[in-house]
Amino acid sequence: MSAERTYLMVKPDGVQRGLCGEIVSRFEKKGLKLVAVKFTVIPKATAENHYGEHKGKKFYDSLISYITSGPVLAMVWEGDGAVAVCRNIMGKTNPQESAPGTIRGDFGMVTGMNLIHGSDSVESAAREISIFFRPEELMTYDRSADAWIYE
Ligand code: RTP
Ligand code: MG
Repeated sequence: MSAERTYLMVKPDGVQRGLCGEIVSRFEKKGLKLVAVKFTVIPKATAENHYGEHKGKKFYDSLISYITSGPVLAMVWEGDGAVAVCRNIMGKTNPQESAPGTIRGDFGMVTGMNLIHGSDSVESAAREISIFFRPEELMTYDRSADAWIYE
């Protein structure tokens, strides 16, 4: 088992709709391990850093105003292949194309309100984790259930 980490964030719409518990439980029940969590309103400059790859795109301004519009639940999760596993649990970017059973497929209607962010590569994950968390905020601990999740 490799301890790959990913950065996930329940976006302001997920928080406002009372879906934090539902969303967190999906990653928890899958077998991923929670490493860090923070409930915070993202400063504009931090949002611009996080979503820097989208600067100049037509949806960029609305994306920044959406993601800074209220508190988000920022998290780091760990597990074998965590980046891809979590992207699958989230579903496609456009909730109208996301499969039922995924978070976006089950709860969303439009791309601009798609409930959750997840890193799209191991490299992005490392960059995003360092934007939102200090190293000492990332927990290292043994979890007894791992013996029943990984062979
Ligand atoms: P995220 O980064 O938030 O996890 O989403 P993603 O990888 O699935 O999608 P990405 O292409 O990185 O887009 C980032 C976020 O920008 C908003 N978006 N709006 N209106 C549009 O065409 C559009 N395209 C993207 C979404 O909130 C998307 O999650
Ligand atoms: Mg993305």
